[in-house]
Amino acid sequence: MQLADTRLRPLHDRIERIKPIVASVTIGDTIEIEAENCEEYLRIAEELKAWRKGPFKINDIFIDSEWRSYIKYNLIKPHIDVRGKRVLDLGCNNGYYLFRLSADAPASLTGYDPAFLPYLQFLFINKFLQIPINYKLAGSGDLEGEYDVVLCLGVIYHRSDPVGTLKKIAGTLQRGGEVIVDSIIFDSDESLFLMPKSRYAKMRNVWFIPTAAGLINMMERCGFCGCRLIAVKETGLDEQRKTEWIVGESLEAFLDPNDRTKTIEGYPAPKRAYIKARKA
Ligand SMILES: C[S@@+](CC[C@H](N)C(=O)[O-])C[C@H]1O[C@@H](n2cnc3c(N)ncnc32)[C@H](O)[C@@H]1O
Repeated sequence: MQLADTRLRPLHDRIERIKPIVASVTIGDTIEIEAENCEEYLRIAEELKAWRKGPFKINDIFIDSEWRSYIKYNLIKPHIDVRGKRVLDLGCNNGYYLFRLSADAPASLTGYDPAFLPYLQFLFINKFLQIPINYKLAGSGDLEGEYDVVLCLGVIYHRSDPVGTLKKIAGTLQRGGEVIVDSIIFDSDESLFLMPKSRYAKMRNVWFIPTAAGLINMMERCGFCGCRLIAVKETGLDEQRKTEWIVGESLEAFLDPNDRTKTIEGYPAPKRAYIKARKA
């Protein structure tokens, strides 16, 4: 366990000790939980900031995450059928999409994410939901197992080796299995990739931003077929914005204040392409 994780260890132990008495649970766009009232839940939720993905509601505690993750979820949902399928969410963060997909009777749900804080958020929420999700505190390099459906959302541009990551996903998918990949893109009909000089929208960990054609090209070369562009969507302030549940800045501070079509560094503002494909 890394240093940062050691700092969070006591929080982990407090989450482990929670014995919630849950009256009812609703899984809608906001994952709502009604549990026996407990001030400890609010204290833990606050210590688990920053909440990037959500929202969640526990009694009257509304965890208004930075991202309204249901916008992305509702966009991809009509394109996947997980009933009876083994589902993997690579870069699952706190498990929001896995929680949502659990309502559709998948055979199994697995999430991979190497970051400790979202893992703690997952443990906390799942103390109430008790959904059988196999959460691996690990990254794409450690992928193993076989799956019928893989989600790889908002991850590929964070990878310095996106080809290696896509090949890993192809290697873990059953032949004919389906993947949905989303990436920040920039506009051009050609297969091109932009490598930011240092930061993109203040993020240090953005390596390659493809065009939609570039992403499809890369996916085809990594063992996928039937690549189909299912949506292109600009990231708006309705989807990503500062709330009291994050620390620091959000999209409004990442864009050029005089020209919202550009990031603060002068790159095209974030827009995402969603590609659906099959393992060849
Ligand atoms: C921009 S967030 C996207 C979260 C979610 N998939 C979504 O689309 O809303 C990127 C996530 O990928 C995770 N991540 C970073 N490197 C990863 C890797 N090598 N393998 C899997 N996940 C990774 C981060 O911890 C983070 O939770």
